[in-house]
Amino acid sequence: MLLEGKKVLVAGVANRSSIAWAVAEAVLREGGQVALTYQNQRLEQRVRDLAQSVDPHLPCYELDASSSEQAAEVADMLAKEWGVLDGLVHSIAFAPKEDLTPGILKTSLDGWNTALHISAYTLLELTRAMMPLLEKSESGSVLTLTYDTGKVYPNYNVMGVAKAALEAAMRYACWDAGRKQVRVNAISAGPIKTLAARGISGFGNMLDEGSRKSPLGRNVTAEEVGNTAAFLLGPASSGITGQVVFVDAGQSIMGVPAAATTA
Ligand SMILES: NC(=O)c1ccc[n+]([C@@H]2O[C@H](COP(=O)([O-])OP(=O)(O)OC[C@H]3O[C@@H](n4cnc5c(N)ncnc54)[C@H](O)[C@@H]3O)[C@@H](O)[C@H]2O)c1
Repeated sequence: MLLEGKKVLVAGVANRSSIAWAVAEAVLREGGQVALTYQNQRLEQRVRDLAQSVDPHLPCYELDASSSEQAAEVADMLAKEWGVLDGLVHSIAFAPKEDLTPGILKTSLDGWNTALHISAYTLLELTRAMMPLLEKSESGSVLTLTYDTGKVYPNYNVMGVAKAALEAAMRYACWDAGRKQVRVNAISAGPIKTLAARGISGFGNMLDEGSRKSPLGRNVTAEEVGNTAAFLLGPASSGITGQVVFVDAGQSIMGVPAAATTA
């Protein structure tokens, strides 16, 4: 039980395929308590149904991460519900399709601002709002989700830039939060079929190529990401902060697929 009695807020569940949902399930499996947030009323019922399927009393709050007011409201509600927060999961990203697909040189300033605001700045927004509660924990831990920023993936474009900003923001937040004994880390997940991933054109090719490249010969599952998240959110990882931990079946270490080098 990596998270016995730990209280974790998970932001970014859209449906059962969301990485955030796999993280929530892992937290519960490891003995923790979970509160969920959903982006807007359009997603509310789906997220509430998921929550109900594991615990009829699981708290669910609306949170558009671009709203500091809503973030403050969620912090207030958690203060009343739990009084402390041991873990915060930021599993949120968005870029307008018209800016994601055509190529980085065609990215509009509005599209750039939206992608970096929602996918990177909101980590800071949520961490700032939850800090008073995280500071009260003996093992406060913040976790975000990124994707292999050191390489170019055609069609990922402005989202690749946003993820690079997210990783840098994670490291600076780690410095700010560290003296309060709150850790901040990122998981760089391999490609997983989710709602957000479906917005990337050619995502099917990324999955095929990923499994061909991987030393394990396959892609990762959301459950594997959830398991690593449970470790990073809990006291077992107390010495780890400011890190990007790759959960990608080893894909990121490879240059070309093994098949390309066999005679
Ligand atoms: N699926 C992959 O292959 C993969 C790989 C590496 C990293 N990631 C990252 O994992 C995270 C989760 O994505 P996912 O793949 O589970 O897809 P998903 O679509 O299930 O999750 C994305 C979430 O972002 C939320 N969101 C978007 N804008 C928001 C806003 N303004 N306020 C609050 N929430 C907002 C959506 O509601 C959704 O719940 C993202 O950061 C994504 O970039 C995904």
